[in-house]
Parts: sequence; C-alpha cells; structure tokens
Amino acid sequence: MTHDPGPDPQSAADVMLRLRTATTDEHRELEGTLDLLDPDLTPRRLGAVLQRMHAFWVEVEAGLDAWAATEPADAAAVEWADRRRAHVLAADLAALGGTPDPTRPADVPVPGTTDEALGTLYVLEGSTLGGVFIDRHLAGLPAMAGVGPLASFSPYGEATGARWAAFRRVTRDHVARGGDADALVSAARRTFRSMALWCRDVQQSASPSPADPTRPGGGVPA
Ligand code: HEM
Repeated sequence: MTHDPGPDPQSAADVMLRLRTATTDEHRELEGTLDLLDPDLTPRRLGAVLQRMHAFWVEVEAGLDAWAATEPADAAAVEWADRRRAHVLAADLAALGGTPDPTRPADVPVPGTTDEALGTLYVLEGSTLGGVFIDRHLAGLPAMAGVGPLASFSPYGEATGARWAAFRRVTRDHVARGGDADALVSAARRTFRSMALWCRDVQQSASPSPADPTRPGGGVPA
C-alpha cells in the first residue's frame, strides 16, 4: 500500500516568495507608470488611471470566468466569484465623472489552467496590499478632498489581510498537491507586463512628460 505524503509545506511555501521575487521589476515598472503616490495627483489623472484599470480588469476577468467554467472546484476554492473587481472600478470611475473606455487591451493573457489562473490572480489580489497605501495617500491630498471614498484599491476594506491570507493558502495548497509553480510565475509576469503595456501611455502628471499626441487627452474621462 502506498502512503500519500500529502502537501509538501516547504516547496509550497516557496511559491509565494518566488512570485514576489520574480515580479519585483514588473511591479516597480507598473507602480512607476501609474504613479498614484504622486503628491500632485489630480482627480482627472486618477480617473484616467481607473479607466485603464477598469478596461484591463474587464478583460482579465473574462479570461478568469472562462477558466472558472472549466475548473469550478478550483475557482470555488479560491473564492473567485467574490474577488471580481471590474464593477467596483466602474463605480469609482463613474464617481469621478469618467466613462469606461470601449477599447480593450489586446494581449491580456487568458489562463488555460489553474496554475495560470492563480498566477494571474496573484497580480490582481496582490494589488490590494499596495491599495492600502494608495488609499492613505489619496486621503491626505487636498486635491482629492471633493472625491468620496473609493473602493477600487482596497475593495475588501478591513478584510484585506484575511483575503490575502486565504489566497496564499489556496495557492500554496495547489502547488503542494502537484501544481506547476513555474507556470504560476510565468502567468504572473505576463499579467504584470500586459497591464503595464496597456497603461504605459496613461495621462502623466502635470509635471513630467508631455501628453501622448497619439491619444488626445490620454484617454481621460470627460
Ligand atoms: C502606484 C501603485 C502601487 C503601489 C504604490 C503599490 C505598492 C505596493 C506595496 C507597498 C506592496 C506591499 C504591501 C505589503 O507588503 O504590505 C504591494 C504589494 C503588491 N502589489 Fe502593489 N502597488 C501598486 C500597484 C499595484 C498594481 C496595479 C498591481 C497589480 C495589478 C500590484 C500588485 C501587487 C502585488 C502582486 C503585491 C504582492 C507582493 C507580494 O507580497 O508577493 N500593485 N504593492
């Protein structure tokens, strides 16, 4: 009789560290592009960023929905249905007077496996960690005084830590049970890159670069 050794906690724990380490550069690039900690951030520019994020989330969520239809048990384990955020981004965009961009990013990776779905979700869910800092920054900006509280960056509020812990647990379990950590990491990097590419010409803050002439107003909401 064979003995099932069960999850290997050592290799499983490493996947989260690997994800963070392997995507450090991509995260930094995206952070720089979005530049949400800019002390001169205006509601107009924030709206432009939310507009890009919304279009990206709509597209990436469609791919995750397709994966969830083929792997419903895995999708339920990671509570995919409760992690959707496009509608939250849409509501905040509307609150800022913006409208969704009908253009969609072309190269958003579609996860074909649970490995790829978890790698993609790592990027989306991890953004709620930085979101806490972004919210704190926005709350202190005089230019944002007229803007009500936004939910896009920390959609889980006080449950942010618990939701992230649950995501990490499911991801580690998945890898410990035979998931492909390399595939997870590749999907996470592709997702970061795809989002950075989609956002790269978003309207920049008043100070640095001139507006992109190919995109009048930088696709800014009205
Ligand atoms: C200007 C925008 C952003 C800032 C300032 C920022 C900042 C941060 C900070 C401070 C953390 C660490 C939080 C902690 O350890 O408690 C973090 C984590 C993370 N952020 Fe961002 N972030 C930004 C945007 C984003 C976006 C747009 C995404 C992806 C859509 C993203 C993905 C992640 C991920 C995946 C992690 C988890 C890293 C890990 O622990 O493995 N971030 N971010």
